[in-house]
Amino acid sequence: MDRIRITGGRPLNGSIPISGAKNAALPLMIASLLTDQMLILENVPRLADVAQLQRILNNHGVDVMIGGKKEGETDFTGQTLLLSAARIVDTTAPYELVSKMRASFWVVAPLLARMGEAKVSLPGGCAIGTRPVDLLLMVLERLGAEVEIDAGYVITRAKNGLKGGEIVFPKVTVGGTHTALMAASLASGTTTIENAACEPEIADLAACINKMGGRITGAGTPNITIEGVSKLGGARHAVVADRIETGTYAMAVAMTGGDVLLQNAAPELLQSALDVLVQAGAVITPTNQGIRVQRNGAGILPVEVSTAPFPGFPTDLQAQLMALMTRAKGRSHITETIFENRFMHVQELARLGARITLDGDTATIDGVPKLKGAPVMATDLRASVSLVIGALAAEGETMVNRVYHLDRGFERLEDKLSACGASIERLTG
Ligand code: UD1
Repeated sequence: MDRIRITGGRPLNGSIPISGAKNAALPLMIASLLTDQMLILENVPRLADVAQLQRILNNHGVDVMIGGKKEGETDFTGQTLLLSAARIVDTTAPYELVSKMRASFWVVAPLLARMGEAKVSLPGGCAIGTRPVDLLLMVLERLGAEVEIDAGYVITRAKNGLKGGEIVFPKVTVGGTHTALMAASLASGTTTIENAACEPEIADLAACINKMGGRITGAGTPNITIEGVSKLGGARHAVVADRIETGTYAMAVAMTGGDVLLQNAAPELLQSALDVLVQAGAVITPTNQGIRVQRNGAGILPVEVSTAPFPGFPTDLQAQLMALMTRAKGRSHITETIFENRFMHVQELARLGARITLDGDTATIDGVPKLKGAPVMATDLRASVSLVIGALAAEGETMVNRVYHLDRGFERLEDKLSACGASIERLTG
């Protein structure tokens, strides 16, 4: 199993190319099931989750090809995927595949919408708390599908096709909103969604479906209207920049000090996180190439933050912010409102010398003058990268074990950081 060794204490200087968003690429790849024509996705990150989803889609009969490199492309230029679901050969997504990656459950919507049936394993437990799918199933039922759960599988049918309906989410859900967009696009009639998720990845999926011939308006706001069409076609679409990767590296620079340009990053995708970084003492400058992040001299200031649905502070940056606050001059509070028990990183950060106490959904972080390197264990994707941020500022050596979590969501993290001066290397095997 690979490990990452970091020797802390070096500032970051240079530039880091930001990849396409994992959380947009996954639903976009799944949208290829909606059409028998070719969907071409550009700027797809090279990640373990993307490769895993390719396997899942293959199982349904989707041919996935990887486009060749073009003139002027660098090692970090995103890949082009050509996805063709000309014939769907299997409408079952088995436990062995779905249990490896939660987002693969989302295949249920396009399979049902196009084929009139789907049998998809329930995703099962996850390190960041219980993550139910009740609202995703509510969407399918609202659009006229029969839904039953049997032996760990969701079995859903709509023999005469899906029908548009009114969906009111009692809670903002990204997965639920993706499900509604995909299912309603091939339903007959109009669907309205109230209290939809506003995350940029939702707007990106809607833009792609519209290029495929869909009729979605309002994506990116809480009220979305979808006029169903009988057939969707092929399209070419570039994946939006990864706001979580952007925020993660911005926090790494705020942690170590230095001056880094986050190339291709788009500030409007993470304004709330950038505002928090400014409060913490970083200097953030949007440029026409991306976002420049600097912190010189001045120390890190404490902040009070609650996670919230977009445009609020993202839960996927909570662990990274906590790592940053371990070195703040004073006491910070971070409240997690989206997922219960998303604090797996607290104990591991404590191994580096952090002082964090938990009370329900709120963490109190008392900044310490220095962290000290130690062996730590990655537990989930975002928690793992918070340990990397801690290690970059810790005295001496930190060994991060179980880095396969990082590979799920961060493309060549060690190369991007070492190019900016970090002492970080991967030990394979
Ligand atoms: C997506 C992201 C994840 C991010 C999260 C919140 C991907 C692949 N994953 O996850 O990285 O942390 O959005 O921004 O894009 N809920 C229910 N019932 C449901 C569905 C969700 O109660 O049927 C609850 C969840 O338990 C949670 C909240 O709704 O408390 C938000 O979950 P949701 O937005 O659906 O997260 P995901 O789509 O799983």
